[in-house]
Amino acid sequence: MNSSVNGKDFITTQDWTVEELERIFELAAELKRSKREGKPTPLLAAKTLYMIFFDASTRTRNSFETGMTQLGGHGIFLSPDKMQISHGENARDTANVLSRYGDGIAIRHCAFREGNDYLNEVARESSIPVLSMQDDVYHPCQILADYLTIREKFGETRGLKIGVAWTSAPNYVRPLSVPQSLILMMPRFGMDVTLAVPPEFRLMPEIEEQAAANAAAAGSSFQISNNFEDAFTDADVVVPKSWGPLMHTTDHDEGFALIEKYPSWRCGTEHMKLGKQHLIYMHPLPADRGREVTDEVIDGPQSVVYDEAENRLHVQKALMALTMG
Ligand code: CP
Repeated sequence: MNSSVNGKDFITTQDWTVEELERIFELAAELKRSKREGKPTPLLAAKTLYMIFFDASTRTRNSFETGMTQLGGHGIFLSPDKMQISHGENARDTANVLSRYGDGIAIRHCAFREGNDYLNEVARESSIPVLSMQDDVYHPCQILADYLTIREKFGETRGLKIGVAWTSAPNYVRPLSVPQSLILMMPRFGMDVTLAVPPEFRLMPEIEEQAAANAAAAGSSFQISNNFEDAFTDADVVVPKSWGPLMHTTDHDEGFALIEKYPSWRCGTEHMKLGKQHLIYMHPLPADRGREVTDEVIDGPQSVVYDEAENRLHVQKALMALTMG
């Protein structure tokens, strides 16, 4: 195995070249085949991954922990309220101590204007790789899984149109990290991205600028629209999902009022008909059924949400094997 990404942190796909990302996809496909054939893949025998979750998770925790088991290693679930982080232990001390014991540190920390800073601080202090399990800016493992899923469905991805559409889900304010990671990475693989978003739900300006620069460098396109339907029209792939109006306000009540202002931003069969005949519906889950999407769509033939969730396991196993092996 080529070791050039061994020891490398994974906090944003921006820090990885397309060639390095390709190696994740190639190994993920191989590991997926091996799992289906029942072949053991002990690439991380006796290795340990520490998984620090500041926020709730179903897919991320279970795919990382299961992935470590399948690679012959061990994933340890850590909750900050049961660690000395709860008594104020800083990132430097946590990072240095865990580095003396194990082989990788994975962190989910989505608090706005805190999470990404914390991950970067741990990464600076750590001598073992730090892997993002999502922060307030990026969710890179989700986007690896999304891309693998798209490639499995379509083969070549250059020239495909992907619509990233904001949806109205008033049950909680979700981070910006999924749409931001989508608009950053997909243009680098030749996909044309349309971001459909009400004005109050625009993403971080520096991320939108970087997405445009990525598209220009790769010969693809990145467009922003205030019209929900634009994400679907002639699209091959659509990811309609909710996030908070965090660039507009961090006030709780104002934020929820804004989410409620756009109840028609919900994916239904009428929207799916606007895309190409082979249009697929994607969502990282959990989805707010009935508000973000109708059951008919998410449970329908165009939905690939369970393939997408499964691929979290395969891409993360590849990522861990390449960085921690
Ligand atoms: N998509 C995703 O990250 O799911 P969880 O929040 O359940 O980990």
